Formats: sequence, C-alpha cells, structure tokens
Amino acid sequence: MTQSHTITVEPLGREVECREDQSILDACLRSGVWLPHSCTHGTCATCKADVLEGEVDHGAASSFALMDYERDEGKLLPCTARPRSDVVIEADIDVDDSVEVFPVQDYTATVVELTEIARETVRLVVELDREIGFNAGQYLKFQVPAADGLPAVDRTWSIASPPTEARRLEFHVRRVPGGRGTDGWVFGGLAVGDTVAVSGPYGRFVLRTGDDRHAVLVGGGTGLAPLKSMLRHALENGEYEGHLTLYQGARTREWLYDVDYFRSLAARFPSQFTYRPCLSEESAADCGDEAGRYGFGMVTDVIAADHESLSGCSGYLCGPPPMVEAALKTLMGKRLFPRDIHREEFFNESDKESGAVRSPLIKR
Ligand SMILES: Cc1cc2nc3c(=O)[nH]c(=O)nc-3n(C[C@H](O)[C@H](O)[C@H](O)COP(=O)(O)OP(=O)(O)OC[C@H]3O[C@@H](n4cnc5c(N)ncnc54)[C@H](O)[C@@H]3O)c2cc1C
Ligand code: FES
Repeated sequence: MTQSHTITVEPLGREVECREDQSILDACLRSGVWLPHSCTHGTCATCKADVLEGEVDHGAASSFALMDYERDEGKLLPCTARPRSDVVIEADIDVDDSVEVFPVQDYTATVVELTEIARETVRLVVELDREIGFNAGQYLKFQVPAADGLPAVDRTWSIASPPTEARRLEFHVRRVPGGRGTDGWVFGGLAVGDTVAVSGPYGRFVLRTGDDRHAVLVGGGTGLAPLKSMLRHALENGEYEGHLTLYQGARTREWLYDVDYFRSLAARFPSQFTYRPCLSEESAADCGDEAGRYGFGMVTDVIAADHESLSGCSGYLCGPPPMVEAALKTLMGKRLFPRDIHREEFFNESDKESGAVRSPLIKR
C-alpha cells in the first residue's frame, strides 16, 4: 500500500493525510481544505506556497512556474508536489466568504449530448452518477483514457451550466490539433452513451454572488463556458445584483456560438444584461444587414471604444492566455483595480512546455 504522510496547512492549522502518489493540493481539496489554485498542473504558479518543514517531490512543476532558486528557498507548487515525509506548508489563503468550498470528489459521468456548435467546437453534456456542488465558474477534470501505449491523462474543462443543474453538466470543448484530450478523444471517438471518469469541482474563477457592481465578462473562444455558467446563475437564479455585460470574442461568425441564446437572455433581462459579440476578422461590410448586431475588431478594442472608464466595476476574463493578458491591460487602462479582475487562462500542455505563466501585471 502507498505510504501516507500528514500535511499541516498554515496559517489554518488544518491537518490532512496525503499519499506519496497524491498531490498535496488534491489531498487538501478532497478534505475540504481550500488552497488557492487555477491550472492544477504546475503551470500558472497560483498555488505557490512555502514549505516550513518536511520533504517533497516537486513532480511536474514547470521550471518557469517554480524556478530553481525558489525550490532552494523552500517554495512548492502544491498541485504537483507529493510528500516524502510529514510536511508543514504555509499558503497565502485569502478566504472569501461569498465563495463556498465544495470538497473535490470522483464521479462517473455518462455522455448524453455531443453536438458541433461552431467551427472546431462541440457542446458536451454529461449526466453524473449523483449531484455535485460547485460555484459558477469552476471546472472538472476528465480522465482521458490510456490509448496507443500512452497512459491515461487528466484534462480540465469548465462547467458552462449553473450550479442549480447539479447532475446534468454542460461543457464547450475546442479541438486543439494534436491534443490528447480533444483531437484524440472528444473529437476522436467519444460518443453519446460512453461513461467517463471525472473529478471536481476545481478552480477559484468564480462569480462573486450578491455583488452589485457592473461586471464586465470577457470570453475568447470556449472561454465563454464558465461565463455562461456565471451569467445563467446570476440572471436565471437571481444571484447577482448589478449589471452584467458579456463580450464574446471570435475571429468570424463561424467561430461564435450560443449567439441566439445570449440574445434571448438579453431580451429577457434588458435592464441587467448587455450582450456584445465581437468579430476580429470580419467587417461590417461582410455582415451586411446583420452588421449592427456585432462589434468589430479585437474584443479589447470594442471594450475600449464602449467605455470611457470602468472605475468601480469588476471583471471576469477567460480564454487563451494572450487574450486574457490583453483584456487585463485594457481593463486596468480603464481604471479597474487588479483586485477586482478575476481571470482564468486556458493553459494546455504546450503552454506548460513554453513557460506561459501568469501575468507580470499582477503581483502574487
Ligand atoms: C482551468 C482551465 C479550464 C479550461 N477549460 C476549458 C474549456 O472549458 N474548454 C476548452 O476547450 N478548453 C479548456 N481548457 C483547456 C483544456 O484544459 C486543454 O488544455 C485543451 O482542451 C487541450 O487539451 P488537449 O489534451 O487536446 O491538448 P494537449 O494534449 O494539452 O496539447 C495541446 C497542444 O500542445 C501540444 N503538446 C502536447 N504535449 C506537448 C509537449 N510536451 N510539448 C510541447 N507541445 C506539446 C499538442 O500537440 C497540442 O498542439 C481549460 C484549461 C484550464 C487550465
Ligand atoms: S494551480 Fe499550481 S501551478 Fe497552477
């Protein structure tokens, strides 16, 4: 049997048992001890913490997210570190009372829908074996089965449905050429009726419910997924007091999806929701009679043109790391405080290798 060790998490003083083949973050989240995290695979550095006592194996921590000198100084990434003795860590735990902590659990999910909704993009709907608790904006890990001699791997996709739909969960998945989870699995043979192993919920990119500020939500590609969960929760379940504006960025109309859904949501909640789909590679002339329904240019250009100032607002940004970085700069340029900007970057395996790390614009 694999040996276990005790992890003490300071400043909480909480103790959890962790196997030698388990990450410290996984053990904590499964025990209901919340630690900051985002990518959960050693890329983003969000979870970085201090080892006060004990030995760890740093595992697959990217050398960009955890530099050699930081390892020497006694830092670790709990999402990849595995204990080799009893360990005491100190984490920067910023408790937000508006965000509930749901312990991570394993579930069996059955695929009930797999539909193409835009270019290279599918809507994947699964039914879990039992209800799950999560905050709008969080994600699940899917176990991509072993294939062609390669071991099983985890891939993370954000939940696009609201927490009130606790068994039937929606996801939006974009094909990445050569990707194990998308090209090789979701687009490469996964079918309605298949069962898959998932775990969750993970992530700290969550809607701050009850807020009354104007929230600007910016999604690029399938970065729309967690924002859709947030918007449905905010509007359909009455969980948000302020106005919400969604900027959905895509190259052309064939990459956009759920446009009619968001238009109908805007019609249902005219005083609380504004929808702005933006096209970066099509012009008003390309769209003819429909031109008035879109913003043209990069999503950041449309935001900049729409607002003199965003002082006093909050921001939720999600999608490819370069888009999130650009949107972050735009919102900060419009006088939005970094502490009020929440973001999720869709890192993949190639980002891990190339060392894409979190924005230098925001101090950790
Ligand atoms: C918090 C979070 C939430 C996410 N939510 C979503 C979502 O809702 N929808 C969505 O579509 N995506 C989402 N993503 C991205 C998702 O997790 C996957 O990264 C994405 O779907 C690609 O997975 P893949 O297995 O197909 O590709 P990967 O196997 O990760 O490969 C990606 C690319 O990297 C290349 N590559 C693979 N291994 C290496 C290597 N060792 N060195 C160099 N290059 C390599 C591949 O050839 C491919 O081109 C999210 C990511 C995060 C971190
Ligand atoms: S959550 Fe640990 S590095 Fe991203």
